[in-house]
Order: sequence, then structure tokens, then C-alpha cells
Amino acid sequence: MLTEATADTPALTIAKFDKALHDRSAFSCGFAPIDNFLKSSLSDQVKAGMVTAWIATADDNPAVLGFYTLGAMAIRANLGPKKWQRAGVPDIPVIYIRAVAVREDRQGTGLGTALVIDALRRCLGIADQMGAAAITLDVLQDDHFDRRWKFYAELGFQPLGDADNPYRVFIPMTDVRASLG
Ligand SMILES: CC(C)(COP(=O)(O)OP(=O)(O)OC[C@H]1O[C@@H](n2cnc3c(N)ncnc32)[C@H](O)[C@@H]1OP(=O)(O)O)[C@@H](O)C(=O)NCCC(=O)NCCS
Repeated sequence: MLTEATADTPALTIAKFDKALHDRSAFSCGFAPIDNFLKSSLSDQVKAGMVTAWIATADDNPAVLGFYTLGAMAIRANLGPKKWQRAGVPDIPVIYIRAVAVREDRQGTGLGTALVIDALRRCLGIADQMGAAAITLDVLQDDHFDRRWKFYAELGFQPLGDADNPYRVFIPMTDVRASLG
């Protein structure tokens, strides 16, 4: 359980995506590629083992209010903090957040922050089981780019400095452990 219900705010749950349980039909975050991904590609990607997806719903209502997905990724060893290079590994193992989105009518109420913090906690658990030096994501570009960039910066993400992916940001797992572990 993520939050306790009050008179004004229903209890929120974040649970693993279940095609049979979660109703994606009315979801729109205002960014069509993410909406299409949720409705058209997510099930296949989950089935193929490419991502896991975590879905926020309220009370017993199956309507998706927000979600994020996680997948494994490797980044080039010459990127990131100097101590990564000193480790002498060919690639840096990281966990990639492929999508984070909140239904338009729920944006600005703290759900996006709650989803990212849930993702960070989950990644911390994964990093106890297999090597993962950081969590990365690509900040989407459109008219809301500056707000998005600020949103992730306030959560502790910093630019990776990857010329091939200039909007890729990361948070070292050591930082996540220090603040949430
Ligand atoms: C970005 C997003 C996940 C944030 O979720 P949220 O629930 O609105 O965020 P919270 O209420 O926890 O936090 C508010 C912060 O999010 C950012 N934010 C809020 N609405 C936003 C929007 N429509 N677009 C981009 N960023 C937004 C702002 O930085 C805001 O801080 P501020 O209130 O000080 O300006 C959500 O707005 C969204 O789904 N946007 C469309 C899809 C998207 O951009 N996904 C991110 C892909 S990188």
C-alpha cells in the first residue's frame, strides 16, 4: 500500500502489471507515444521479458492512474563517475526506466514523484541481487521538457554526459541507497 486513504484522497496501490486486471482504456498522459506504448506495446514487451511494468490504481478501481517500466541496460564504461572507470569493467550495468507517466487529471498531485520513488526503492532491491551501478532514463523532449528535466533533477538525477543520448540522466545506486536504503 502506498498511501492511506483519507476523506479526500483514495488509497493508492502500485502493483505489477496484470493485463487481466488493469484497465488501460481511458489512460492518457498527454504524450501520445507513451499512451500508445501502454495500450499497444506493453503486453508484448512484458511477455517477451523486455520490461516489467508497475501500475498505480486507487481503491478497487482497475483504471490505470500512472505507471512506470523497468529494464536492464548497459552503458559505455567511459561514461559516468570516475570510480566507474576505475572498476575496469567493459560496460556499466544499470537499470533503465523506459517510461513514467501519470494520467492527465492526476498530474501535479505528487503521483509522479511517488512512482519514481517506488521505482528507486524497487531498483535498490534488484541491485542487492545483481550488479546495477545506477538507474538511468531519457527525458522526453517536447514543450514540457524543462519541467520534466527539473522534475528528475529534484529527485537526484544528473546528466550522464552521453553525446549520443544528450537527454539521458542517471542517479548512482549509492545515492539511492544513502537516501532510501
Ligand atoms: C512528468 C510526470 C510523470 C510527472 O508526474 P506528476 O504526478 O505530474 O508529478 P508530481 O505531481 O509528482 O510533481 C510535480 C512536478 O512534475 C513536473 N510536472 C508536472 N506536470 C508536468 C507535465 N505535464 N509535464 C512535465 N512535467 C510535469 C513538474 O516539475 C512538477 O513540479 P512543479 O509542480 O514544481 O512544477 C507527469 O506529468 C506526466 O505523466 N507527464 C506526461 C508524460 C511524461 O512526460 N513522462 C515523463 C517521460 S521522461
